[in-house]
Amino acid sequence: MHRVRLPDGTDVPALGQGTWLIGENKRRASKEESALALGIDLGLSLIDTAEMYGDGRSEELIGRVIKGRRHEVFLVSKVYPHNASRDGVQAACARSLKRLNVETIDLYLLHWRGGVPLAETVAGFTALKRAGKIGAWGVSNFDVADMDELLGVPGGDACAANQVLYHPASRGIEYDLLPWCARQKISVMAYSPFGHSGTPLRSKALTDVARRHGVAPAQIALAGAIRHPHVSVIPKAGDPAHVRENATAGKITLTAEDLAVIDAAHPPPRRKQSLDLL
Ligand SMILES: NC(=O)c1ccc[n+]([C@@H]2O[C@H](COP(=O)([O-])OP(=O)(O)OC[C@H]3O[C@@H](n4cnc5c(N)ncnc54)[C@H](OP(=O)(O)O)[C@@H]3O)[C@@H](O)[C@H]2O)c1
Repeated sequence: MHRVRLPDGTDVPALGQGTWLIGENKRRASKEESALALGIDLGLSLIDTAEMYGDGRSEELIGRVIKGRRHEVFLVSKVYPHNASRDGVQAACARSLKRLNVETIDLYLLHWRGGVPLAETVAGFTALKRAGKIGAWGVSNFDVADMDELLGVPGGDACAANQVLYHPASRGIEYDLLPWCARQKISVMAYSPFGHSGTPLRSKALTDVARRHGVAPAQIALAGAIRHPHVSVIPKAGDPAHVRENATAGKITLTAEDLAVIDAAHPPPRRKQSLDLL
């Protein structure tokens, strides 16, 4: 399994599991729990959630799945921007810890930038880290200008990760944000690697490359994301067959020829593009 190093030296799996929309439907919950547990068994042990997902039900479902195996997973959760004041962040984290039924969240992210000054949010994150409630903190949906501003506030340089949209049909971050984060040793977590709807997986280029490797297009999309050494990726899969495919994507090495086929259909950015969001 590829691993990605956080600035504090912690190594996390490059392939993880997303949980947006998981836990929202009671009838699907037991299948989703099994899929998530299977993913952990297969090494997809970085688990991403947020207080937003299902109004906390995603965190509760994860809490049930990781009971007795907390030590096997690297847990990421996110705070709403409207809860991201110095005190608000600490109260929101306490609620997430309770729902997850754990003592510590390994990586706690600001879900997107809102109206609260960054200095306040960073002060809240710093207090949580000092109290041992979180292992590290980071942000999500921050472009280069936001990152520059973040690093300018007291304690902002402790940011460990930026979680952003990245898939074969959305490559804008390759122009500036990815290299910027690499220079700063801030890891990038790629969300919606299949474009959420799965549409990018129907690309002929991805299908052709997948056929050449004898794998599924989804595995090519994941291998493409984690070919960058500081990028991890968090596909969401409720179907166990999908979980199995995703777990083996780390074995695929894309050749220069594969990348040329993908580039021809989905050209890398030649100029600054504003950050795509979902
Ligand atoms: N920070 C943010 O603002 C933000 C925004 C969006 C997402 N996220 C995070 O990123 C995670 C992933 O993104 P996402 O949920 O938007 O969507 P995604 O991972 O791009 O796509 C999920 C869809 O792909 C399908 N799928 C999974 N594995 C597959 C495979 N091997 N082959 C074919 N289809 C496959 C899933 O189907 P099945 O479920 O049927 O398997 C599901 O319909 C989220 O769950 C969340 O944790 C963060």
